[in-house]
Amino acid sequence: MTWLITGGAGYIGAHVVRAMTEAGERTVVYDDLSTGIAERLPDGVPLVVGSTLDGERVRRTLAGHRVTGVVHLAAKKQVGESVELPLHYYRENVEGLRVLLEAVAAAGVPAFVFSSSAAVYGMPDVDLVTEETPCAPMSPYGETKLAGEWLVRATGRATGLSTACLRYFNVAGAACPELADVGVSNLIPMVFERLTENAPPRIFGDDYPTPDGTCVRDYIHVVDLAEAHVAAARALRSAPGLALTLNIGRGEGVSVREMIDRINAVTGHGRPPAIAPRRPGDPARVVAAADRAAAELGWKAKHDVQDMITSAWEGWVRLHPEAARG
Ligand code: WQD
Repeated sequence: MTWLITGGAGYIGAHVVRAMTEAGERTVVYDDLSTGIAERLPDGVPLVVGSTLDGERVRRTLAGHRVTGVVHLAAKKQVGESVELPLHYYRENVEGLRVLLEAVAAAGVPAFVFSSSAAVYGMPDVDLVTEETPCAPMSPYGETKLAGEWLVRATGRATGLSTACLRYFNVAGAACPELADVGVSNLIPMVFERLTENAPPRIFGDDYPTPDGTCVRDYIHVVDLAEAHVAAARALRSAPGLALTLNIGRGEGVSVREMIDRINAVTGHGRPPAIAPRRPGDPARVVAAADRAAAELGWKAKHDVQDMITSAWEGWVRLHPEAARG
């Protein structure tokens, strides 16, 4: 099979490409390079520069590379930005997916893996979020991911396309420093940035109803997440007509305070955090029930939070050598 990886030059996408090629799958990357970086791709993987909104280019790519499966990661993913620019997010994430699915259906491609998010759950009021927990996204970003799942499943029902919607929890870490996330919009890089500036890391709210008062999340190593894509792609290949919706997490909650303590230990900075006001829209606790992915895919995360922080730090220091002073 040849897999088209949209968004394959992005942080998560490049890890998926690496895992798929290491597993012996042929891949072609389709990326508009708006945030993607071509140098992240392994030698020999073809790159088509284009938007999934460009149906003609998608059709030509599917036919030209004889694509037999798609892993769709190309999307905008900043929650705050989606509040400012909802129409842009709906266009890129929903219309971009609709155009892609139209081409996939017309070409008779049989398998489709969709990059979804725990953001579809919004503020879940449960200890462990199962795939049956009601979806109530809190941002246009989360809405576009939920609408995307609807498009994917409806297309599967109508055409027989085998589908998997993977709901990522909090993704972190890197396979190697070159593939580390270059964005500074999540907890770990935001703490790294503060430490690099010699400023205390910030905790956004310590009065949540959690054991230490700070928000609890389920962090998943990007290498494990990439392996989940390989497992999903293989499951779809061997079972036509499948429709999977799966949480991809570790099922283990870690608080912001615990994360900052561990980051301080790994980096050697040892800088006590400062308490800042709550960030609007943050749920107190979002932790996956991860057993369905294990049952359906035989996949389980192998890496812990220590691995995530250590590998992310190696990537950070590569770009910010001055940070290593700790
Ligand atoms: C984690 C916790 C912060 C920085 C978001 C999206 C989600 C997904 C992943 C998409 C929160 C706290 C952070 C800091 C802090 N995105 N924090 N100090 O908000 O759980 O999830 O990213 O693809 O859809 O919602 O992740 O890493 O931003 O924050 O206290 O300097 O860390 O308030 O509780 P979040 P995050």
